[in-house]
Order: sequence, then C-alpha cells, then structure tokens
Amino acid sequence: MKSNQYEMILDAIEKMGISKTDIARKHTSAYDEFHVRGRAVSEELFFQIELINDSQVLDLGCGLGGTCRMLAEKYDCMVHGIDYSEQHISTAKSLSKLTGFEAKTEFIQADATQMPYSSDHFDLVITQHVQMCIADKDKLYSEVERVLKKGGHFIYYDVLKKSDEAPTFPQPWVDNKVYSFLISSHELENKLCSLGFKKIASEDQSQKGLNFLTNFLTQAEEKPAILTGQKILMGDNSIEKITNLYQALKDGIIGLESGTYEL
Ligand SMILES: C[S@@+](CC[C@H](N)C(=O)[O-])C[C@H]1O[C@@H](n2cnc3c(N)ncnc32)[C@H](O)[C@@H]1O
Repeated sequence: MKSNQYEMILDAIEKMGISKTDIARKHTSAYDEFHVRGRAVSEELFFQIELINDSQVLDLGCGLGGTCRMLAEKYDCMVHGIDYSEQHISTAKSLSKLTGFEAKTEFIQADATQMPYSSDHFDLVITQHVQMCIADKDKLYSEVERVLKKGGHFIYYDVLKKSDEAPTFPQPWVDNKVYSFLISSHELENKLCSLGFKKIASEDQSQKGLNFLTNFLTQAEEKPAILTGQKILMGDNSIEKITNLYQALKDGIIGLESGTYEL
C-alpha cells in the first residue's frame, strides 16, 4: 500500500478492477464521505434546499470533499470546502481533478473559526461531523452567521452530547478526550437562535446511525476489506474507534442529529 492518502484511495479503487481513467464520483464516495452513513445521509440532508447553478455553497470541515462533489454534480453549483488539515485539502483537490469537478469545487486549508471569506457570501453553509473538534463554538457559529447571506440556510449533521458521561476514546474524530468538545442539542439550538437563526427542522438521526453501524461492524467481521476506506482516514485503530462510537450511541451518551436553520 502507498503512503499518500490520495494514492491509497486510488490503489484501493484500482484493486476493484477500475482503471484510473474510469474513476468517477460513485467510485470515490466509499472513501471521501467521513461521517456515519456516508453518501446516503448527505443526499437526504441537502436535497431539501433549493439550489441553482449560481448558488454559492460552503462545506465547513469538508474533509476529502466528497459532499462538495456530490452537491456540485447534482446542482451544477459552485461548492467551496475548507478544512484545517492540509493533507485532506490536498486529497480533496486531487480527487476533484480526477473525477472532473475541478471547476465546480474549490478547497482551501483554513480554520472554520476564521474563515477566509467576505461577509454575506454564501447561500448555503453545511457541516458534517466537525463541530465536536472545535472548542470555540461562539466563534464557529458567529462565522457561519457572518458568511451566510440573509435568507441563506445552515445545515448540520453532527455528533452531539446526550449525557454528562464521557464516551470511551479513541473516537473517530479524536484519539484523546482532551480534544473533544461535544455540545448538546439544546446548547446548539440556543447558540444558533441567539445569532438570529430561525430553526426550520431538526431530526434525531441516532437510531439510523446505530442501525448502519451494527450492520457495518457485522460485515467488517466477515470481510475486513470493507475497512480499507476507514483505515485510510482514521488509521489502523479504525475498528476500535467505530466500536467506541457504536457503544456510545447505543448507551445514549452521544447522539446524531441533523438540523436546518435559516438566517
Ligand atoms: C470527521 S471529519 C468529517 C469530514 C467531512 N465533513 C465529511 O463528513 O466527510 C472532521 C473534519 O473536520 C476537520 N476540522 C477539525 N477542526 C477544524 C477546524 N477548526 N476548521 C476546519 N476544519 C476542521 C478535520 O480536519 C476533518 O477533516
């Protein structure tokens, strides 16, 4: 196996018998959507918002850019992704080039609490499984409010705190609890409303996530090869991280929630 993240993904896809020149978004999506239920949940979440081809969309903590490419493909709109990790941004750019989305996606290495964009710029800001890595929630959500146009939407799909008990670490987002900053659904709603957002909808996604993880862990026991994408993103202890996530969800220590707000 290669050492570079992009080459590891290419390697894994080519091992399935697909040559580099034939690789399309449908082939990369098993590797570039780093949240529970992957591509399926992204498709459900964002299709409720009307986007047109001159809409400007921002994905906060875009990881390898899978959701950005999905939205660019579906709506032909421009999708920007920022991520703290230089390696993720480099892989996101390479995957967009490979699959023909270079003109419709732009990736920048940046901190979500200090975004390199002017105010009132985006029609839609999305984020999936990122805020639990960020300590300064006030800065994070006030930046979301700043870069969104009036009337624009914010959609999140996140891991939230459901009890005062800490989950067992490592978790998929961090190895150590010192770097984990979970907030509750109630705290999140209060923060967004205090910034002037209006809640349109929210959904507890915990049971759907639990069903997915139960199935995934069963399959991983039978066919360890399905863990290839997770190992590329989370390292060799990915099964331990996914098992800890599953257990914390099952015990009601954390929950998965999606929400849509309008400014
Ligand atoms: C679990 S991954 C999710 C990636 C992507 N949203 C997805 O669902 O495929 C969390 C991502 O958040 C990024 N991240 C963490 N803290 C960040 C920050 N302060 N600003 C921007 N990105 C951040 C990490 O580098 C990582 O790529």
